[in-house]
Amino acid sequence: MDDELNALRRTRMRWNTPLSEPHADLLLDRMELAGGHLADLGCGWGELLLRALGRAPDLRGTGIDTDGTGLARGRAAACERGLQERVKWVEADAATWDVPAERAFCIGAAHIFGSTKAALEALTRVVLPSGRLLYGDGFWAAPPTPAAQEIFGPDLLALPDLLDAADAAGWRVLHLSTAGQLEWDDFESTSRAGWAEWLAAHPADPRAAAVREWLDRRLREYVRGYRGVLGFTYLVLGR
Ligand SMILES: C[S@@+](CC[C@H](N)C(=O)[O-])C[C@H]1O[C@@H](n2cnc3c(N)ncnc32)[C@H](O)[C@@H]1O
Repeated sequence: MDDELNALRRTRMRWNTPLSEPHADLLLDRMELAGGHLADLGCGWGELLLRALGRAPDLRGTGIDTDGTGLARGRAAACERGLQERVKWVEADAATWDVPAERAFCIGAAHIFGSTKAALEALTRVVLPSGRLLYGDGFWAAPPTPAAQEIFGPDLLALPDLLDAADAAGWRVLHLSTAGQLEWDDFESTSRAGWAEWLAAHPADPRAAAVREWLDRRLREYVRGYRGVLGFTYLVLGR
């Protein structure tokens, strides 16, 4: 798809993860934010990072992502909220980030490091020993269908195995929660809504057939392939 459509695709998403507002508030509570620095690895447009900065006036943040479109959205939102002096946006491979911080987020971005296990190990290097990490990752909530395995690959774990991997990397679980069905359905629906709205307004556009095909395929993959099968957990980790 072209730049115009790519820029539109995620506009209806609050963040790029299955997470309700009350659940986000709970996670930020459990992170016990104060001063110091918060690094968000694979931040997307950094909405949760900005919410964290909004709560803790002495906190500074850095969002790291390879996607310039997401970073531009984050930068614009930071300016609108008067947070631009307290946050940096870095377009880079977050796997190379090695500045230890008081707090870190890595949500839906384990693939940056290759796998869940590799991410949990690598992230010990970006959080100070007294710090906290908010780690969000997928897991198999039910035995995967072949279609789900095809989409999400061989590295996804069941939740007990994910917790074992956190333990093996030296983390202690301070808080555990998982995305509910409504959060998943809202995430999937909002991920389609930007293009669904465009399609309704531009049915005769030459790109309409490709957009309709993508929207139909995404919905089919979700409902037939991984709804209720793919889970998503949020762990607040310390050491
Ligand atoms: C599922 S999104 C999650 C975004 C964000 N954490 C959130 O919860 O809204 C995964 C993000 O990882 C980013 N990403 C992928 N590979 C990356 C890399 N090597 N370094 C930094 N970011 C990367 C993508 O651009 C995308 O924004």
